Amino acid sequence: MKKMLLALFALVLLFSATAAFAADILVGVAMPTQSLQRWNEDGANMKKILEGKGYKVDLQYAENNVSVQISQLENMITKGVKVMIIASIDGSALSDVLAKAAEAKIPVIAYDRLIRQSPNVDYYATFDNFKVGVIQGKFIEEKLGLKDGKGPFNIEFFGGSPDDNNAFFFNGGAMSILQPYLDSGKLVCHSGQTKMEQIGILAWKSEDAQARMDNLISRSYTDKKLDAVLSPNDSLAYGISASLENNGYIPGKDWPIITGQDCDRANVKNMIAGKQSMSVFKDTRALASKVAEMVDDILQGKQPEVNDTKTYDNGMKVVPSYLLEPVFADVNNYKELLIDSGYYKEEDLK
Ligand code: BGC
Repeated sequence: MKKMLLALFALVLLFSATAAFAADILVGVAMPTQSLQRWNEDGANMKKILEGKGYKVDLQYAENNVSVQISQLENMITKGVKVMIIASIDGSALSDVLAKAAEAKIPVIAYDRLIRQSPNVDYYATFDNFKVGVIQGKFIEEKLGLKDGKGPFNIEFFGGSPDDNNAFFFNGGAMSILQPYLDSGKLVCHSGQTKMEQIGILAWKSEDAQARMDNLISRSYTDKKLDAVLSPNDSLAYGISASLENNGYIPGKDWPIITGQDCDRANVKNMIAGKQSMSVFKDTRALASKVAEMVDDILQGKQPEVNDTKTYDNGMKVVPSYLLEPVFADVNNYKELLIDSGYYKEEDLK
């Protein structure tokens, strides 16, 4: 009993010591935009978890404006943050401000998106981005029966924002599955646009994806139907399905397969309504907890845990990374994944 009490006392002491240690420490969190649901969740989770550990948090959103993000980071340096967590807008535009952070000895964690062209990125935490694309590519492969030799099918491709390193990983993963079928003619892309420089949508804008889909349909699909659209994420899938709807495609009838990623509320609703075939769930709570652990370790002089030291070369160095698992989601498993886990409430999806 006495031993147990002592152990409890020691634990309380340890906890209050950690909290007191954290209490004076300001952590900077820079998020790209509030216009997409996921970054609001990411920011809110990050703030909640860090504050729960006793840190003070400076959370900033830059509305997809690169120079705004740079000045937010400069401000954080001036305010004396002890660590910076950054989900970049343009991954290659932060070299100068990160040089300033390095001068001030502020460690930097790249959040979800790799920061490129800077030696001053200490760690990277994300989901396995290549695997996200593989999940999407495999879904199309399976739904169309490509492995069983079925086809040819008509497909169009969309890519993410060209200034976001993730966009190339998503595309690489999906094309690792789909390219052989394009080569063999079992998948046909009538626009001929399959390369990232032709299919990328700057800033991941739904409305631009919608406009491109409108264009593709009027140029190449007035006399034939689309069977599949590879969309790397939900914001693009949202625009693509709006276009399909305006162009007369009907869910459950001739609606093509459309992929996505993030399980944004509007897209889960679209899955339920038959307007999006799948998404990829990346639990932002898990990413935020992982990054908060990294912050603790860095500030206590420990090496944060990483599980990938090869994949993410940012042009200057290979950034030690922690990759979380992305999970396939569709209308059959969304309840278990999203509602039972407390990520959403049932009424959020009504
Ligand atoms: C993220 C995706 C997100 C996209 C648009 C990417 O960097 O990994 O989850 O859909 O940005 O915000």
